[in-house]
Amino acid sequence: MSSIRQETAVGQILTERPSRSRVFEKYNIDYCCGGHESLEEACAKRELDVAKILHELELSDVENMGRQETDWSKATISELVDHIVATHHEYLGREMPRLTALVNKVAEVHGRQHPELFGLQGVFMGFNAEIEAHKRKEEEILFPFSKELDGAESLPSFHCGSLRNPIRMMMYEHENAGAALGKMRELTNDFTMPADGCNTYRAMLDGLEQLETDMHWHIHKENNILFPTLIATEDALAANQ
Ligand SMILES: [Fe+2]
Ligand SMILES: [Fe+2]
Repeated sequence: MSSIRQETAVGQILTERPSRSRVFEKYNIDYCCGGHESLEEACAKRELDVAKILHELELSDVENMGRQETDWSKATISELVDHIVATHHEYLGREMPRLTALVNKVAEVHGRQHPELFGLQGVFMGFNAEIEAHKRKEEEILFPFSKELDGAESLPSFHCGSLRNPIRMMMYEHENAGAALGKMRELTNDFTMPADGCNTYRAMLDGLEQLETDMHWHIHKENNILFPTLIATEDALAANQ
């Protein structure tokens, strides 16, 4: 008998056991920006049989039994923030310049045969500029404040008022990032290599697909774990004032 219930939010199901992401990815179930939806709602939206998905999630748990998985909801705010910066922000800092060069090169060489590559270039450049600014806002404003909140005995004063304000802005930007990634998937036909592609083309598609996966994890950890924890911590401290 599985402990997973169809009423549980998709983000929560994933938080308990990150290996379940394979099932969600297979069926294109959005676990980051759409992580607040229940499994039942997410399946109904995609016309999927919820019983079948529950069964696959159970099989995934059996397959991954005994594997050490980190449940980030058990970490402290500071540990989670440091992990996000060291893993996902660091990944973007390292990978975006390389991907920019690949996307530009492929558009230049193959754009005549594949005009959609110019569309891809535009979406990618927009995403790059927005994610860079977003990352800075988190690292310079939201994350330092989050760390101050960690273990605080009284509510620290914050110039933006409640943390709900910057969090709302970050979640809105996550939606935009998710939409840009979806558009890149669409423009590359699910990251499929065309018959006349070359190795640079292949490297670009591979890099973009990896970017999508990393961003899904990144947004999941922020939207479904970090932000709800911050709001709950802020509310608890405000209630004690
Ligand atoms: Fe982030
Ligand atoms: Fe973010």
